Amino acid sequence: MAFHLESYLEHAGPLSLEGIDFDRARHWPLDEDMLRALAYFTDVEGHTIMWVRDLLNTGIRHDPRVTTFISCWAYQELFHSRAIDKFLRAYGAPTGEERLHEVRSNIRVLKERFEAVGSWLIGIHPGVQKATYYSWGAAAEYTTLTGYALLARRTNNPVLREVLLRIGKDERKHFAFYFNEAKEALKHSELVRQCTYWLLDWLWTPVGSGIKPQAEVDFLTRYLADTDGGRGREALLDIDRTIARLPGLHRFAKMRKVMEGLGLLDQRPAS
Ligand SMILES: [Fe+2]
Ligand SMILES: [Fe+2]
Repeated sequence: MAFHLESYLEHAGPLSLEGIDFDRARHWPLDEDMLRALAYFTDVEGHTIMWVRDLLNTGIRHDPRVTTFISCWAYQELFHSRAIDKFLRAYGAPTGEERLHEVRSNIRVLKERFEAVGSWLIGIHPGVQKATYYSWGAAAEYTTLTGYALLARRTNNPVLREVLLRIGKDERKHFAFYFNEAKEALKHSELVRQCTYWLLDWLWTPVGSGIKPQAEVDFLTRYLADTDGGRGREALLDIDRTIARLPGLHRFAKMRKVMEGLGLLDQRPAS
């Protein structure tokens, strides 16, 4: 089904938090791991603008459909960070705003350069550029919406759960845009399909890599995988299965590789 950009634009406002009683946030205690996971999400959401900066260094900036979408998309992502921060403030935990300097200084310059080279390479061929950008975005958004769904499943704090579920609805729309555009961009050329697969296989990393230290990326992957006694693994593998539905990307298996690297697929979920 095609993505209706005009309809998205008409409704793409800041996340509505109407009706959520943040005064009740403290009534259901969260453990340290959940607070650590929330810190990850708010930091990554708050740095979407860094990703936009790299995008605008490519020929992507000449496509008005893309620049229109990313203008609203980056705006919505910022409000996701603010929504989690609002919950954390109400709960009495440190927010992303308080960690801004620390997070910025953690951004790995070498990795940024590496990604900038990737952006430049992608920029050489406009078809590869578009297809890679859209496929990358689809994988990132699907990972994010999966992450929010797993966190919502893990917590017994109804205030937090409602915030996470509302953010997840936005992420699903973002995913729909990227996935549909990727399908279209990959349709016409075997060269584009092969290059896109190769670039994703080479460069794609889970959302937050490069912004958060590797130890935090590994922590979050384990934490999400362990949801429901280990059944989160299937949800994470579903990211691969979803992206593999795109033309030419049937071998996409980056989440499987990440989880294998952490030894997570050797452990059977508890029954
Ligand atoms: Fe988001
Ligand atoms: Fe998103």
